[in-house]
Amino acid sequence: MARKKANPAKKEAAVKRTEAPAAAAVEEKSVEVQTVPAAEAKKPKTKAAASTESAPAAQEKKTGAKETTPAESVPAAEAKKPVSKRAPAIKKTDPTQEETAPAAEKKEIVAKKTAATEKKVTSAPEEAAPAEREAVSVVEETIPVVEEAAPVYEISNLPRRSVAFIGSECHPFVKTGGLGDVMYALPRELVRLNCDVRVILPRYACIPQEYQDKMIYRGEFYMDMGLTNRNYYVGIMEYVWDGVVYDFIDNQEFFSAGNPYLNLVDDIPRYCFFSKAALAALNYMNWIPDIIHCHDWQAGLVPVYLRTLFKDTPVGRARSILTIHNLRFQGIYNIPTIQYWSGLPNEVFNMGALQQDWVNANMLKGGLAYADRITTVSGTYAHEIQTAEYGERLEDHLRYHSGKLRGIVNGIDYGMWNPETDPALAVNYGLGNVLDHKMENKLALQRELGLEQDEGKFVIGLISRLTNQKGLDLVSAIIAQVLDGNTQVVVLGTGDKQYEDTFRYYENTYRGTFSACIQYDEARAHRIYAGADALLVPSRFEPCGLTQLNAMHYGTIPIVRETGGLKDTVEPYNEYTGDGNGFTFDRYEAGLLLDAINRAKTLYFTNRYHWDEVVQRDMAKDVSWENSARQYKNLYLELTPW
Ligand code: ADP
Ligand code: GLC
Repeated sequence: MARKKANPAKKEAAVKRTEAPAAAAVEEKSVEVQTVPAAEAKKPKTKAAASTESAPAAQEKKTGAKETTPAESVPAAEAKKPVSKRAPAIKKTDPTQEETAPAAEKKEIVAKKTAATEKKVTSAPEEAAPAEREAVSVVEETIPVVEEAAPVYEISNLPRRSVAFIGSECHPFVKTGGLGDVMYALPRELVRLNCDVRVILPRYACIPQEYQDKMIYRGEFYMDMGLTNRNYYVGIMEYVWDGVVYDFIDNQEFFSAGNPYLNLVDDIPRYCFFSKAALAALNYMNWIPDIIHCHDWQAGLVPVYLRTLFKDTPVGRARSILTIHNLRFQGIYNIPTIQYWSGLPNEVFNMGALQQDWVNANMLKGGLAYADRITTVSGTYAHEIQTAEYGERLEDHLRYHSGKLRGIVNGIDYGMWNPETDPALAVNYGLGNVLDHKMENKLALQRELGLEQDEGKFVIGLISRLTNQKGLDLVSAIIAQVLDGNTQVVVLGTGDKQYEDTFRYYENTYRGTFSACIQYDEARAHRIYAGADALLVPSRFEPCGLTQLNAMHYGTIPIVRETGGLKDTVEPYNEYTGDGNGFTFDRYEAGLLLDAINRAKTLYFTNRYHWDEVVQRDMAKDVSWENSARQYKNLYLELTPW
């Protein structure tokens, strides 16, 4: 079949691009790396140090089983590393295999496992994860790696479950949007609900040095990848913080860029590598979670790997959940390229799973097919994505899997977002003194941004990635009408050049009343949440949205479009009853956005007493993670009912 043939040009380019650094990495480590063909595994092996022996492609494709660095070479290899004294003894093992047999027996087990896996054919995705899978006991890490003393939590009496989070960003290490917030906050909340959580992330070079310095070396191994005929270094660097263990997958070849997302040509191989390495690392560490909770397309292949190449390995016992934070990004590329990098068997490249059309494969689509449960980040978005308008061409697939799809709305971390203690603010405040102190923050913000300092002005903030998703064309269309002499607008964001330039243009045109901060600045974002009166979120679509939650918690009233999580979290202000949390509009039209802004202004300028009531109501609203984390915990328990 034509589509099975790898595109030779692409393949060659891809190999070329990655060859040199990996070879260097192998040499530096001075370790033996080789793949054990099943038939030969029992034979004793001797290989020169620093060599990489590739297995036949067919072999690699199947299990990734190979002999790893001999135990004797470990001390030497490790001597070069900044290993903490408290780090556990590192055992070099094959991460795709059980770690129960004594060293001498290991090769034989590897061989048996390899042969067994070779014979098994992956079943169709709908059958691949039967609900009646047997419950299994958890193998816990016996030697805890504790770098910082974990605080004492009020541990709930809910049953304990272990969860591995796998995703591409996490505050404060790396964050481009709300995914980073969720990967930070939800694990911490789950710890309080008696979960044992490990977060697995790429070790990007852009992670700030202060965190790089805190990581300790946890181990390393080599892993084959798809049809590349190469073994790739996988290092594990660990950081334990507030009860959550963060494991960073290290490979300079894939993660040395300054940004987590580059372009699909680079991102497809790096996230194929990351998804496979994350599972192999769990096996390597012998930390087998009850639940593997994956996030977005970058971890989309994890559920597929789990039920195919890893199904007969220890981690294959885990149940998987895939959370959609943003359906717009799916990891789509031509089939040969994804086959080449992932090494997934042909069976998964069918229309029920990875195959998108005659040409392309879709990593998220495959994950959705194989995951035991799918969640997304609000109830409304869970419905919307099953429609043509919001389904991003996956609506049929999602409707097919709707039985395992659920919406759980995000929250915000009250430690990270707390106006009473926030170090970024000019003046801290709480529910009791918001009306006095918010004004001081407004004046400080105006000063900071070079706006006219006037507490009587209505200040509207917008904090956003500047992309087509966020409704910025609506904002741009009405700026002239919004800036009526009593209103100021502050935009903080980076993204598409077209929007960056538009907002720069407005700043030039309306100096003193319009501020365009084309930058990513966490502390400034906090000051805008505190100093603005209202925050705009007019999104075209919004799976959940966190900026409206941050705003409400800081007493800043959201003006939002009724879509996705915005609809679920902002109750429209009712001028007759005085109820509600913000101002909303439904259809995606600039006139309706302007109308919502004008309604907000009218209340602000003509009925400040009622405006202030909404401010206080919003600050008192529960937008924490507590309730939503419980729903995730219940989902975990539903999947592991022992
Ligand atoms: P998305 O994930 O689609 O970008 P969310 O509303 O879920 O949108 O999350 C955005 C997160 O990123 C919020 O925490 C917001 O404060 C933050 N953020 C967005 N842009 C910036 C920026 N330019 N500077 C600082 N923080 C930003
Ligand atoms: C995505 C969505 C956003 C959501 C965030 C965290 O980036 O665009 O709506 O809040 O993920 O789930």
